[in-house]
Amino acid sequence: MKGVILAGGSGTRLHPLTKVISKQLLPVYDKPMIYYPLTTLILAGVQEVLVITRPEDAQSFKALLGDGSDLGIAISYAEQEKPVGLAQAPLIAESFLNGEGFCLILGDNFLYGSGLGRKLQNLDAVQGATIFAYRVSDPTAYGVIELDSVGRPVSIEEKPKVPKSDLAIPGLYFFDKDIVEICRNLKPSPRGELEITDAIKEYMAQGKLSVEVLPLGTAWLDMGSFESLLEAGEFVHIVQSRQGILIGDPITAMRARNKSS
Ligand code: TTP
Repeated sequence: MKGVILAGGSGTRLHPLTKVISKQLLPVYDKPMIYYPLTTLILAGVQEVLVITRPEDAQSFKALLGDGSDLGIAISYAEQEKPVGLAQAPLIAESFLNGEGFCLILGDNFLYGSGLGRKLQNLDAVQGATIFAYRVSDPTAYGVIELDSVGRPVSIEEKPKVPKSDLAIPGLYFFDKDIVEICRNLKPSPRGELEITDAIKEYMAQGKLSVEVLPLGTAWLDMGSFESLLEAGEFVHIVQSRQGILIGDPITAMRARNKSS
């Protein structure tokens, strides 16, 4: 499967840290932030990765991650001229995708949990869209999904003032090939962005949206605020030092993947 890491954006919530350095290159305890979403893609079984960055950061990401040959995967790069929204990612990735579905992860998303890799490997991007839902105490900063009693999606709203549920949508999505056409037809939202939630709504309208609720005990953080950046670093430090393992390390993840296959 193919994977895309969206690692552009303006990172205004982390100013002045992100004034001269990309958010996704900031340290999260002992690794650059982008290692964590890259590791999630590796655990999901992705073989080809496209990293989308701001033009001014492209060189730094290439110097950090290279072509992926040391990991046994292929890593390539594309640029987003302006941060016009998450739903531009499939359009920028169009030639990389070459008519295939893919897994999209946001470059500031941290996901860690027992069995997560196995769960992701069982998903595919051949038919429809699969997204995740994660219970949070304050969903107002996120895309929020409402489910009916049997877990089917009922509504999706971007950063609602009065959320209809406490289920936030993490920045990890599986889309089939239709996503490119869907995103091509999107109009900017009232806040001026091409919203991935609008694309997901289209899948929902067509009855092609699956939602997986992440189990209790899974850690999900978006690392885009000072608090969550610090919390992610503390989480990594605590689990690594207590259990003597490495979290968010692409080489370790690749070894684990090869062992389980
Ligand atoms: P956000 O955190 O929503 O936006 P941001 O990174 O610009 O930060 P801030 O709100 O502090 O200004 O973006 C989520 C992820 O998507 C993050 O990894 C950046 C990335 N992104 C892009 O690559 N391009 C875009 O056009 C947008 C809006 C975000």
